[in-house]
Amino acid sequence: AFEVDLARSALTLQVPAGKTILEVLREHGIDMPSSCEQGACGTCRCGVIEGEVIHQDVYLSNAEKAEGKSIMTCVSRAASDRLILDI
Ligand code: FES
Repeated sequence: AFEVDLARSALTLQVPAGKTILEVLREHGIDMPSSCEQGACGTCRCGVIEGEVIHQDVYLSNAEKAEGKSIMTCVSRAASDRLILDI
């Protein structure tokens, strides 16, 4: 499990092992668009302000993944205890 801090919404949410960030956002009424939900289309892209991402998508380039400024919320997770997202 890890925590996501939503910078613009002033919310902190727990993401448990069996759930995606996208699912947790929706459970809390945050409207995040999505399409493929398999890490391929880029629709659920979200800005990362702080924290380390384990990228599990095939959408971002390797350079973008290394930069760590975006996350695909439908598949990717945190490598750190906490991510601060730009939503
Ligand atoms: Fe397609 Fe997340 S919904 S990459």
